[in-house]
Amino acid sequence: MIETERLLLRKFRPDDSDWFVRMRGDAELMRYMGGAHPPEKALQRLHHFISFYDEHGFSVLAAIHKERRELIGWCGLHTLDSTPEIEVGYGFDKPYWGQGYATEAAAASLRYGFERAGLERIVAVAHPQNTGSWRVMEKLGMKFEKRTKHYDMDVVYYAISREDFRPLDSFYAVHDVEER
Ligand SMILES: CC(C)(COP(=O)(O)OP(=O)(O)OC[C@H]1O[C@@H](n2cnc3c(N)ncnc32)[C@H](O)[C@@H]1OP(=O)(O)O)[C@@H](O)C(=O)NCCC(=O)NCCS
Repeated sequence: MIETERLLLRKFRPDDSDWFVRMRGDAELMRYMGGAHPPEKALQRLHHFISFYDEHGFSVLAAIHKERRELIGWCGLHTLDSTPEIEVGYGFDKPYWGQGYATEAAAASLRYGFERAGLERIVAVAHPQNTGSWRVMEKLGMKFEKRTKHYDMDVVYYAISREDFRPLDSFYAVHDVEER
């Protein structure tokens, strides 16, 4: 489990399904991620995030608002499309947009990836019009590399190496928790 100033990032659980299906089914939220996903596709993705964690020890995680004790977003590391690269991905429930949560969670994910998972490089992609998303990448120190296609859409492609990564000057802790 990763703790930041305002968030806990933990492994997704099957009982997060309703929330995840709601998020992935929201056309506005999914506007730059290929549009709303039907429930079956969302559930498949959720279960994939869980099994990916079991296999690799990192994954896209559930972002819990510490104070409100509420699931408010997803953020974490995962393979990019059908490439061997690892990408950082994130999404937050609409009431939480514009308050720095994506930057906070993604910065912690990069730090975990470089310091604990031993990654050498992390990439990120976003629809060119998803300004919020590529602004997050830039705030993390990621550098624009190219425009390309992933997930069947045009994307801007950013990357950062372990060498170039500088952690944000904010609270960050990793807790090793026993799974029950
Ligand atoms: C994209 C998204 C994750 C951004 O999350 P967020 O928590 O609002 O981002 P932050 O508050 O950390 O903001 C990061 C920067 O982007 C800017 N920003 C955020 N949303 C923006 C928007 N819609 N338009 C322009 N700039 C935006 C912020 O102002 C901030 O820059 P600043 O510090 O220079 O002001 C959020 O809008 C979201 O969940 N969208 C739906 C899912 C999605 O598209 N995920 C990304 C897939 S690639």
